[in-house]
Amino acid sequence: MRISVQKERKKYWIIIMISGSISASIHFCKFLTFFKTVRSQLALGNFVTKRHTKRAAGSNIRRFEWNNTLEKSADSFARTNPSKHSNINDIGENLFWHWSTKPGDFNNYGSLAAGSWIHEFHEKYWDSNILTNDLFGSGVGHATQMVWADTYQIGCSVATFKDIHKKTGRPITKICVVCHYWPKGNYLNEPIYLEGQPCSKCESKKCDKKTGLCI
Ligand SMILES: *[C@@H]1O[C@H](CO)[C@@H](O)[C@H](O)[C@H]1NC(C)=O
Repeated sequence: MRISVQKERKKYWIIIMISGSISASIHFCKFLTFFKTVRSQLALGNFVTKRHTKRAAGSNIRRFEWNNTLEKSADSFARTNPSKHSNINDIGENLFWHWSTKPGDFNNYGSLAAGSWIHEFHEKYWDSNILTNDLFGSGVGHATQMVWADTYQIGCSVATFKDIHKKTGRPITKICVVCHYWPKGNYLNEPIYLEGQPCSKCESKKCDKKTGLCI
């Protein structure tokens, strides 16, 4: 049986919800570029981990495409002010929460979320290309979904909520970022990606040589 797993990460603040939400699609060009860059670095063998060593190049990593259906499902879910995963069938999901008194531009939170997810590979040792229980348990579950070779469709959204900070009584904005991925990754005991010459194991047999990503 294939078991796919997801990780939650939260900054704990004591807050009380007071009112409704606004949500928006993340300006996806910049965001998608970030994902493509990370996946390309990995494919080409230029991705550096905590040990300051480069990961082996990847031979089957697919290029991400923005998917409006996933964007919509991410948006609907973000609007529910989630505190747990949606567990929608067949969809991978990363969540990110942040609280701010000066939220500024929503679009920035897409990059903040993606940056924090991939940072897991810089905080923890990433010493196996197979998603073992131990590796997943070390806290790299967002990052592994981001680079999962077979996943190639993504859609994300950000929602904000008005909260009151319990200690100070001041208004604070809660920001929630949701990304949905398809096909989902993070299958336990399966490879995150296949090591080898970039472009050499693309299912489609088509590849962008410059980025090393299968298309
Ligand atoms: C977009 O994602 C959905 C899953 O939500 C998938 O069924 C669909 O095939 C994807 N669209 C494209 C163009 O791949």
